Amino acid sequence: MVTTAPGVAAQSNPSAPAGRTRVAVAGATGYAGQELVRLLARHPQVVLTDAMSSGATSAPRPLPALRRVWDGTVTALNVDQLVSNADIVFLALPEAASAEVGSALVQRGVRVIDLSGAFRIRNDADRQRWYPATASLPPGVVYALPERHAATIREARLVSCPGCYPTAALLALEPLTEAGLLEGSIVVDAKSGISGAGKAPSDRTHFCENHGSVAAYGIFSHRHTAEIEQELGARVTFVPHLVPLDRGILETIYVSLKPGTTEAQVTEAMQRAYASAPFVRLTGNELPEIKHVAHTNFCDIGWRVDEAGARLVMVVVLDNLVKGAAGQAVQNLNILLDLDERTGLL
Ligand SMILES: NC(=O)c1ccc[n+]([C@@H]2O[C@H](COP(=O)([O-])OP(=O)(O)OC[C@H]3O[C@@H](n4cnc5c(N)ncnc54)[C@H](OP(=O)(O)O)[C@@H]3O)[C@@H](O)[C@H]2O)c1
Repeated sequence: MVTTAPGVAAQSNPSAPAGRTRVAVAGATGYAGQELVRLLARHPQVVLTDAMSSGATSAPRPLPALRRVWDGTVTALNVDQLVSNADIVFLALPEAASAEVGSALVQRGVRVIDLSGAFRIRNDADRQRWYPATASLPPGVVYALPERHAATIREARLVSCPGCYPTAALLALEPLTEAGLLEGSIVVDAKSGISGAGKAPSDRTHFCENHGSVAAYGIFSHRHTAEIEQELGARVTFVPHLVPLDRGILETIYVSLKPGTTEAQVTEAMQRAYASAPFVRLTGNELPEIKHVAHTNFCDIGWRVDEAGARLVMVVVLDNLVKGAAGQAVQNLNILLDLDERTGLL
């Protein structure tokens, strides 16, 4: 029996205090991975047995930003160690690494919660185009937007967490498409902070390139379009922009309402969908801002209907590293373990 205190890693120790689930993180030195370590180290129902980074050559290192939250050491990725030390492994890896490690872990009987896009796309041809490293999906993969798919998540062997942009778009739009209130084109105009691109610097994410500027990218070529369209069952024009913030996403969504639809019907559909969702806050005519959700697992959704009742504009915000990544993954863990969804998150 491990005597590790809550919040302190039991490095490389295969047992856990009674009643707690052993979890591990691969990709712990990345932006999303560090958020996972921060959340899991304080989660009352799990023990974090391992936090790993990239390859066999990476030297063991601490996570200075998490001192006194988690005082363990990040070690090199080792699949055998993950299999013996963890019941559930979180993958916060680039998608090609997730495709390989995720499939191997599932094959060896370990449950996986993956943050990458490797397992999100069900259609083989589409997946081949956007995530070519995933030749096929292992058995038991579930696309896991917790507010929409709790029942299937409980049975999953591999929980495939939605992307950050799709999480915002789907939480706003799915209740309305399901209620049959929309017609015509759907436009998702999205802004993201730079941490959405991960920690490796590039021309696009360099401070001097994005400070004082806003740039559109990925028009008709962003892989999150395929994911949003798959889940929504509708064509979407998705235009992402990089804005000079470290974290946060704001999406402005433009849609047309079916003739005769009232604002009250829109409100009712949204309220019905999220009546018991702890992390979706409906703000109605009050439009939400990124500052309201930064560092939290909340997704805030506001909307306005024009006077003619023909056009609807929605504004959605979330923190890409929490509700768009690590927080949503922990929410899915809570569902998997039949815990209150808020455990370790509120
Ligand atoms: N950033 C976001 O807002 C966000 C939101 C939702 C989903 N995601 C997804 O979550 C995953 C992680 O994103 P991130 O932004 O945290 O990335 P990141 O900051 O670039 O971190 C990547 C992590 O993976 C490790 N790694 C890199 N190459 C590897 C390899 N070949 N084998 C094993 N480990 C490797 C890195 O270790 P080293 O430190 O040793 O290099 C690091 O720990 C990605 O798939 C991303 O698409 C990200």
